[in-house]
Amino acid sequence: MNDTPYYERHVFLCTNEREGGRACCSQLGAGDALARCKERVKALGLSGSGQTRVNSSGCLDRCEMGPTLVVYPEGTWYSYVSLEDIDDIVDQHLARGEVVERLRI
Ligand code: FES
Repeated sequence: MNDTPYYERHVFLCTNEREGGRACCSQLGAGDALARCKERVKALGLSGSGQTRVNSSGCLDRCEMGPTLVVYPEGTWYSYVSLEDIDDIVDQHLARGEVVERLRI
């Protein structure tokens, strides 16, 4: 068995949509954020085996802190406001391994 992880980093970005008034990431721009994250990871040549995978996820159960994403294996949680925040997460954390402290939750 190969112990090397298939992906160096795995991003789960919540795109959950909920009815009934409780906060959800979909209401806060998660769809656009997911598209931006995937595009930027690909544009920087970070995607694929041995590198980074970006997946949409269902509710990560931190809705009131949202919109949320989490990066593994570090287990670093982020919230974001703008697409530029997503760019910073990609450029700093995914490309260079540096946590973006200002967006950490
Ligand atoms: S809806 Fe995104 S964390 Fe719950």
